Amino acid sequence: MEILHVSAECYPVAKAGGLGDVVGALPKYLNQLGHFAKVVMPMYRTKYLYNHDWEVVHKGYSNLGNWTFEFTVIKEATNELGFDLYLVDINGLLDREKVYGYDDDSERFLAFQIAVLDWVNAWEHHPDVIHVHDHHTGLIPFMIKHSFRYRKIRSIPTVLTIHNAQYQGWMDWSKSNQIPEWDSWRWGLLDWENNINPLASAIKCADKVTTVSTSYLEELRYMSNGLEDLFEYEKGKCVGILNGIDVEVWDPNADTYLEHHYSIKTAAAGKEKSKRELCETFNLDPEKPLIVFIGRLVGEKGSELLPQVIGDSFYYVGRRMNFLILGSGFPEVEAALNAMKPLSQQDFNVFIGYNEALSHKMYAGADFLLMPSRVEPCGLNQMYSMRYGTIPMVRRIGGLKDTVIDFGETNGYGICYNHTAVGDITHAVWRAVELYQDKALMQTLRERMMNLDFSWETSVKKYLEVYQSIQ
Ligand code: ADP
Ligand code: GLC
Repeated sequence: MEILHVSAECYPVAKAGGLGDVVGALPKYLNQLGHFAKVVMPMYRTKYLYNHDWEVVHKGYSNLGNWTFEFTVIKEATNELGFDLYLVDINGLLDREKVYGYDDDSERFLAFQIAVLDWVNAWEHHPDVIHVHDHHTGLIPFMIKHSFRYRKIRSIPTVLTIHNAQYQGWMDWSKSNQIPEWDSWRWGLLDWENNINPLASAIKCADKVTTVSTSYLEELRYMSNGLEDLFEYEKGKCVGILNGIDVEVWDPNADTYLEHHYSIKTAAAGKEKSKRELCETFNLDPEKPLIVFIGRLVGEKGSELLPQVIGDSFYYVGRRMNFLILGSGFPEVEAALNAMKPLSQQDFNVFIGYNEALSHKMYAGADFLLMPSRVEPCGLNQMYSMRYGTIPMVRRIGGLKDTVIDFGETNGYGICYNHTAVGDITHAVWRAVELYQDKALMQTLRERMMNLDFSWETSVKKYLEVYQSIQ
């Protein structure tokens, strides 16, 4: 089958979170099964662009309302990622360093989607499926079916994967003329509560909808930032498929970011060396357990509770552990964490920013990884940490619930709690510190986790079933 993935992110070209990881891996594993999956994404000005060779495959003109724009589609020349990678260049809109965070994001992603469909419209053949990801590409299922200009490709089936339903790409109706001329009888397919809602539109118009874990799909029916009724109504076409992880990129025995490689057998020594190095860099005490947090410092991740959790842990559990935080997000949370630095007694540090290399070093060198998420559609961090022998401390929600079993249960290996609340999380910290004293049990849990299989193999087959069901 030929599958065209359309996404705002794709690792290693541009990544802001897990969406990038998934779109950078799923096509590769589809291709390993003999399919032909490709990715098309915006041409941001990232390092990857300048370090690779590209060939121009298409040039065109299109328009966003009254504004005419020129676009170019380029293809990475070597196919080094294991799939064909295409970038869409639109000067004035996509030529920026960051993926998101600009005032004109809705224009940027709409123009990108229009350019993609114009390009596909010019192909001599049709792909078997167009697979879109999140709201940034959510208007494609509507446009392909109801914009007159795409009549020729109307029959191509579309799949939407929801990685995060919190963000929906809301647009005011005054922007409706930016969508290439469409059948106005269908306005209801764009609308949700008097706004154009690209995510809601994609849920209505795509042939199939997938979410990145089965628990998340259930949760969306009662907690989806206003779309609860829609998920209930459309449940027949929705299916939960747990993400895999790219076990070639995320392999503690081959990770290019690590200095001390290790396998299951050598994990104790390998992790110890990584931990010592990390502790030296961040002025932490390597004799104490190292608890880390890696992620976006936003409400979904429960990040604003971190300062109090750390303070309470030091007070109630004692200064018996280290905390190291890597992330960026809400300025208040960044400031609160930075303000705690001077209070460290060689047991707290924070790195504000995005740092891929450091994240790998932390998965390897940490003893525990904290994820007190309020919402977690799948979560990749816990899977990376388990593959690196680091015990996840997770709230039972979404994909965390589907991937982590508490060590108190049969064959368990993680630390689980029910609420994103300071008390629950601090209690989990206490359990981690106590567990750390039992070296033999730590070793058993580590081996158990490292033996788990979170590879893409099973999930890829489920995606193929979805694609086949709509042919
Ligand atoms: P989300 O996509 O909601 O942010 P996931 O758990 O699916 O959450 O994926 C997060 C991905 O982003 C992981 O690969 C994680 O290592 C990475 N990541 C998050 N924040 C940072 C950061 N500040 N520096 C480096 N990597 C980060
Ligand atoms: C989203 C979710 C995260 C998921 C990722 C990849 O950003 O927040 O839970 O793992 O997408 O699907």
